[in-house]
Amino acid sequence: MRAAYVTAPSADDPAGAVEVGDLDVPGPPDGWCRVDVRAGALNMHDVWTLRGVAGGPAGTPRVLGSDGAGVCDGRDVLVYPVLPVPGRTVGHTELLGDRGHGLLAEQAVVPAAGLVPKPAHLTWEEAAALPTAWLTAYRMLFTKARLRAGQSVLVQGAGGGVSTAVIALAKAAGASVAVTSRSAAKRERALRAGADAALRTDERVPEPVDVVIESVGPATFDHSTRSVGPGGTIVVCGASTGFTAPLHLARLFAREITVHGSTMGTREEFADLVGFVERHRLRPVIDRTAGLADVPALVRRMLGGDAFGKLCVTVR
Ligand SMILES: NC(=O)c1ccc[n+]([C@@H]2O[C@H](COP(=O)([O-])OP(=O)(O)OC[C@H]3O[C@@H](n4cnc5c(N)ncnc54)[C@H](OP(=O)(O)O)[C@@H]3O)[C@@H](O)[C@H]2O)c1
Repeated sequence: MRAAYVTAPSADDPAGAVEVGDLDVPGPPDGWCRVDVRAGALNMHDVWTLRGVAGGPAGTPRVLGSDGAGVCDGRDVLVYPVLPVPGRTVGHTELLGDRGHGLLAEQAVVPAAGLVPKPAHLTWEEAAALPTAWLTAYRMLFTKARLRAGQSVLVQGAGGGVSTAVIALAKAAGASVAVTSRSAAKRERALRAGADAALRTDERVPEPVDVVIESVGPATFDHSTRSVGPGGTIVVCGASTGFTAPLHLARLFAREITVHGSTMGTREEFADLVGFVERHRLRPVIDRTAGLADVPALVRRMLGGDAFGKLCVTVR
């Protein structure tokens, strides 16, 4: 099978560590099945794999990608991106591709229990854009922050897969959404994607918000604690600018702010997400689609920071 994979990770040149070529397809173990992959999508997690921070041992060819959609036994399906750990319901930290192969290949072997029917209104690439970023956004908004219609959400960063998913999901749930971005072009795109307001990074919010979705880290975390109102919630799923951020303790206790960590989601949340997307006819924002041979270029675009929405891969 033709695949985009990594054998020799590189901390300095992750895009250069992508190899594209033929690999053998392993047979599915009990409870797993083979999917003819039609499309996949990239995430920051793939960059961590290419840098040698995530995933299995160097020297072993490992297919990239935790996101994919394809055909299994004649059914059009989406693949739950998390590797199951029996009994674990929180901390979904291992993704497909962390042990064994991922999904950026013509065929993938995945747990059969994780397959969910593909919404018919989505293209293969749109479907493949959902699993990692949208599942993360769904759990943050609905499980962790318990978002209700009429509440307000602030999303730090405008162009990432998680941010664009949050805009769509929160709007569909009847919330108002503000985003921050360093880029005027991305603020404009966010408004077109459905956000009600787009602020410069660190700009004061007109009104304190109920929920802040935080994945940027130290560059925005103080602004997040300034922006959330009394009794509000900050949900953190990432730390793109570093792992240590200031926490203004007086704001935390005086306003009784709750801070949650969140990672990926359960299989049940994945099925709920896909049902929500189908009911509301939502479509992920796609920045760019390319073939397997162009995965290095997509990784470079992700690292360049100019993308707005998901970077998708047409497999066949
Ligand atoms: N825990 C989980 O389950 C999970 C799942 C998916 C992703 N993540 C994490 O979530 C984060 C977002 O991932 P992603 O794939 O959605 O998108 P991404 O492409 O990593 O998103 C980058 C966002 O961060 C903002 N940003 C980057 N550097 C910044 C800086 N110095 N100052 C202010 N803003 C900055 C950008 O905002 P601008 O609009 O200003 O450019 C952009 O919107 C990553 O850290 C990723 O690892 C975690």
